[in-house]
Amino acid sequence: MEHNAHQAQKDKIMEHHVQPSKASTSRRSFLRRGLAVGGAGAIGAGLFSAGSLYTNFAHAQAAASPAVTKGDVAILRFLAAIEILETDLWQQYNELGGIQDSEVPGGSGSPGYTAALQVLDGDMDQYIHDNTEDEISHFTFLNAYLVSKGADPVNLDTFRTLPSSQATGAQHIGRLTNLMQLAVDTSWWTRYRSRTKNPDFGDTFPPAIPGLLKGQFPAIPRHDADLHPKDHLQAIANTAGFHFGFIEQGGTSLYPSLAQGVTHPEVLRILLSIGPTETAHFQTWHDKAGNAPALTDPTNGLVFPDLNASPSGGEDFQTNLIMPEPTVFLSRKFPPVSIIRPTEPGGSGGAVATVQAWTADGLFIGQSQDFLAFLRKLAVQADETRRG
Ligand SMILES: [Fe+2]
Repeated sequence: MEHNAHQAQKDKIMEHHVQPSKASTSRRSFLRRGLAVGGAGAIGAGLFSAGSLYTNFAHAQAAASPAVTKGDVAILRFLAAIEILETDLWQQYNELGGIQDSEVPGGSGSPGYTAALQVLDGDMDQYIHDNTEDEISHFTFLNAYLVSKGADPVNLDTFRTLPSSQATGAQHIGRLTNLMQLAVDTSWWTRYRSRTKNPDFGDTFPPAIPGLLKGQFPAIPRHDADLHPKDHLQAIANTAGFHFGFIEQGGTSLYPSLAQGVTHPEVLRILLSIGPTETAHFQTWHDKAGNAPALTDPTNGLVFPDLNASPSGGEDFQTNLIMPEPTVFLSRKFPPVSIIRPTEPGGSGGAVATVQAWTADGLFIGQSQDFLAFLRKLAVQADETRRG
């Protein structure tokens, strides 16, 4: 309750600070009207020198560009929240399986878990470190930009209530996300291989690893007992490998979906510049997940099948098909095209859908209702935003 009251007050301040789009629109139309009525002749009738005419034109141009709108702020605030959550989960991965240094401090590493991740690629610890650093930079930048526009930054510190792993190497601090009870949806694997289907058309896709939807599985060792037996630890590393792809394909769809609702060119530039880094992450993790060895976890029966062999196999599962296959886009009358999918505004790659997918993933198991309500509110406001 205390938090909600605080947030209501913050929202009020935000509304006060941010110019609504209506004001910028009317100023724009005023300028257009003024120029149309006066015409160039009237402006140049001995009132301005050539230099000051240029200066005034530049001022008019600057004033004519729309202000950062309340909707822009809603989109930026949701993205800041998502980036804080991504940072929280990537930090947990980095503490145990990445490189700990001044760029990504905290934790001291789990040699066994790190080695199991390196079965997917010898540089996994470096990639985990770099993905974590990127997320830190994303939320830090977004919050700094919000402050520069007189809007409130996002702070989720009151929700850091979830426990840390007890495994040697992890920090013992409160977390926002839970990496120890995941049900990872791996349908992104087949979605990016389909040549005829697109989630924006309502199409659905089978998971690459069906077993990951049939229980709750750790993606980091919960305690040192999880470091044995060998195939159990490898199953945890495999789960992480597919979870990395799940998280980053989400960001890959989220940014283009929300960008379509942005009004201010600079805010659009922010979304168009951060979004593709999520895609760079996704592409990397898509490649690495295909190296996860086939095995059965002896402790819980979780199966990682050979994706290149029956009943998997073929173009929908083949592990070296890591680039998006061309598929239907906008209308079936057009030829197939290689694209990010989904990207429908407010659709299955939008803000509300992202929160739903992350909730179903198990990331928020143990989180308070206040947290879920807060995140959902930010998501609804972001999805409702339309350009202009
Ligand atoms: Fe990010």
